[in-house]
Amino acid sequence: MSKIFIANWKMRLDYKASIKEAKAFARSFVNAKERVVLCPDFSVLGEVREIIKRAKISLGAQNCSAYISGAYTGEMSARNLKQLGVEYVIIGHSERRTYFQETDDLINKKVLAAISAKLKPILCVGETAAEKKKKLTKTVIKRQLKAGLKNVSASLIIAYEPVWAIGSGQIIKADEAQEIHAYIKREAGQILKKDVKVIYGGSVNASQAPAFSGLKDIDGFLVGGASLKAADFYNICKI
Ligand code: PGA
Repeated sequence: MSKIFIANWKMRLDYKASIKEAKAFARSFVNAKERVVLCPDFSVLGEVREIIKRAKISLGAQNCSAYISGAYTGEMSARNLKQLGVEYVIIGHSERRTYFQETDDLINKKVLAAISAKLKPILCVGETAAEKKKKLTKTVIKRQLKAGLKNVSASLIIAYEPVWAIGSGQIIKADEAQEIHAYIKREAGQILKKDVKVIYGGSVNASQAPAFSGLKDIDGFLVGGASLKAADFYNICKI
């Protein structure tokens, strides 16, 4: 099964650097065989779309509103993202849950809004270090899936991102990741009544990605820090 590689630039690159790096992505991935998705911040989505248009790269957003339209100052609707040429949207990233107090309920509304606008949601789940220590990983993920996928029937991507592994350089053991991915596929499959793709995120880089890519239930990667430079990200994708 072909893998999907998602670059999450977060709010790290300024305008000029985003344009420069998007051009490098377009050059690197012009003949991409794998599915590659670039998620820059909202401010450059339109320009990045134009830059990557000739390469085999899809455009993704890092968030969307739970509302379709209306008087919601500062929000970004899934409908307008779709009209802008966005195909995927990351929802429920742990940074949104932690710094912007996004609840499972809000995240569910965003997933439903994205689906109604015909965007493909990438729903992020994962436990904190404290939850892992208390052996609550599966309990937390089950709750996040049950709530996040309420009333959802469309197929989507789940990103397993242990919070303790994000941006920390700490890497999960491959067999542990495989076990959790298989668990997520079972749980999400029961809720949605269809197969889901489960990708891994959390300090993924080119040196350890190969150890994960052979695992049965790892369908791709969501990459932060190591996606900021096209060359680093290319090495992870190994097209
Ligand atoms: P990281 O971020 O690769 O820098 O750990 C991943 C993410 O937050 O999606």
